[in-house]
Amino acid sequence: MHEKIEKNIGLMAVLIVIAISFGGLVEIVPLMFKGAIVQPAEGVKPYSALRLAGYDVYVAEGCYGCHSQQIRPFRSETERYGHYSVAGEFVYDRPFQWGSKRTGPDLARVGGRYSDEWHYLHMIDPRAVVPESNMPAYPWLAERMVNGARVERRMRALKRLGHPYSEEDIENAAAAVESKTEMDALIAYLQGLGTQWTGQNGANQR
Ligand code: HEC
Repeated sequence: MHEKIEKNIGLMAVLIVIAISFGGLVEIVPLMFKGAIVQPAEGVKPYSALRLAGYDVYVAEGCYGCHSQQIRPFRSETERYGHYSVAGEFVYDRPFQWGSKRTGPDLARVGGRYSDEWHYLHMIDPRAVVPESNMPAYPWLAERMVNGARVERRMRALKRLGHPYSEEDIENAAAAVESKTEMDALIAYLQGLGTQWTGQNGANQR
């Protein structure tokens, strides 16, 4: 049988195509059920104006270069970081910040783990709170102000992409970030990470 296939290039080509198409199906079929992965997980809401500004700081400063936001379903990860991540937790991240490099720890559930003051000191000078840290310092974040008009435009754009912001949310955005620094925004963002999903013990685990 094997010899027959090896000696018949036409038959071999047909069988190769069949074998490869399985690989294709594995990638293509899930996309047909995409609806299931763009639904927010229970309790997950779009970012508030301040947290959205913080998300933008996180992206602009390239924090994803050293931090992932994706807890994998392995015991070594769940014992350290908490419940593994589910797709529905990231529907309001554009783009998502899963990352692939962990020079520092995963941040998917860092919200509430430290006080705001800890984060402030850590961002100003990581070595002040974690002596062996090699994370860079970000002292300028405490001096830069959040641009309210920009946050408003961002929310308007996200609304167009389907994020359920109300007109009221958008109109109040500038006031919500008034006199806030980029540091305030980043800390608000970090403190919210992984805290919204309420379905961790229910059936809604995709
Ligand atoms: C060059 C790599 C690097 C970059 C870039 C970096 N970090 Fe870190 N980060 C680390 C390392 C290493 C640690 C662990 C030591 C420590 O706590 O400082 C850490 C720790 C942290 C922690 C504490 C996590 C925990 O569970 O203890 C937070 C929060 C954090 N980083 C946020 C950020 C943010 C926000 C940015 C972007 C403004 C950033 N990091 C950029 C390397 C980095």
